[in-house]
This record gives sequence, structure tokens and C-alpha cells, in this order.
Amino acid sequence: MCVWIFFLLCPTHIPGTDNAKVKELVLKCMHAREMAYCPYSRFPVGAAILTADGAIITGCNVENSSFGLTVCAERTAIQRAVAEGHRKFSAIAVTCDIKDSFVGPCGACRQVLIEFGTDWVVYLTKPDGSYKETSLKELLPLAFSPAHLGH
Ligand code: THU
Repeated sequence: MCVWIFFLLCPTHIPGTDNAKVKELVLKCMHAREMAYCPYSRFPVGAAILTADGAIITGCNVENSSFGLTVCAERTAIQRAVAEGHRKFSAIAVTCDIKDSFVGPCGACRQVLIEFGTDWVVYLTKPDGSYKETSLKELLPLAFSPAHLGH
């Protein structure tokens, strides 16, 4: 009984998702960061999205010499995921090279993620693999969403 209560209240628990899956998600976002194409900023970012059916889709930032065409890691990941047929998501892990604080996705990425639901768990991951759990709702309160357009 106590074990179950702990498991349900555990800060890293996503309903239907075990801690091994969270660790895998975190590891995959760190591997994705290694793929970043960021010759201009030299600021690699990695993201890994957990779909409702348990798949993990990764992304990294892809910069461009026409700077405004740069795509963030989170948006690379979600566009890959949607293109592969996924539309329901439960979590995203993101990481960059900053060691001394937990860094959140940029505002544009928050808006793009919330298109696909407000109930995402977000793992802000440091390069050493430690992470802070938050949520998309917390990161983008009072958001504009498909509901405002009747969807
Ligand atoms: N970047 C991301 O990939 N995700 C974010 O949420 C913030 C910024 C990238 C864009 C650019 O390649 C580099 O980080 C510096 O802004």
C-alpha cells in the first residue's frame, strides 16, 4: 500500500510511464544534443518527445546562415513526430550545455508544443543527466490554444 502511494506521488511519475522510460527519454535528449547543427551560436540543444503510445522521437537545433531560418530542437522533434503519425504526447525532455541551471524551451517552442495538448510533462535536463520536472501548463500559463478556435 505505502509503496503504491509513493509511486503515485513520486515527482517523476507520469501516469502509465515508469521511471525507466523517463531515464531513457532523458538519455535520448542528451544524445540528440550531440547531433545539433549550430555553427553560429555554438549552443547545442537536444529534445526527446515521449508519445502516448510509448515511442520516443528526438530532435536537435538546426541552424542556418540566414539566421532566422534556424529551427529549435523541440520543434525539430515535434515536426518529426507528427510526420511519423504521432499526435498524442505525454512528455518532452530538453537539454543544452548549461551546467548550473535548468533551462526551459523558448517561448515559440512552448506555443508549438501546446498545440498538441496542455498536459505535457517537461523534463529540463542538465548535461550531467539530472533533471527538473515541470509541465507545459506551468511554462505557458493562459496560453492561446486550438480550443480558442473551437478545436
Ligand atoms: N534553441 C533551441 O534549440 N531551443 C530553445 O528552446 C532555445 C534555443 C537553439 C536555437 C539556436 O540554434 C540556439 O539554441 C541559440 O539560440
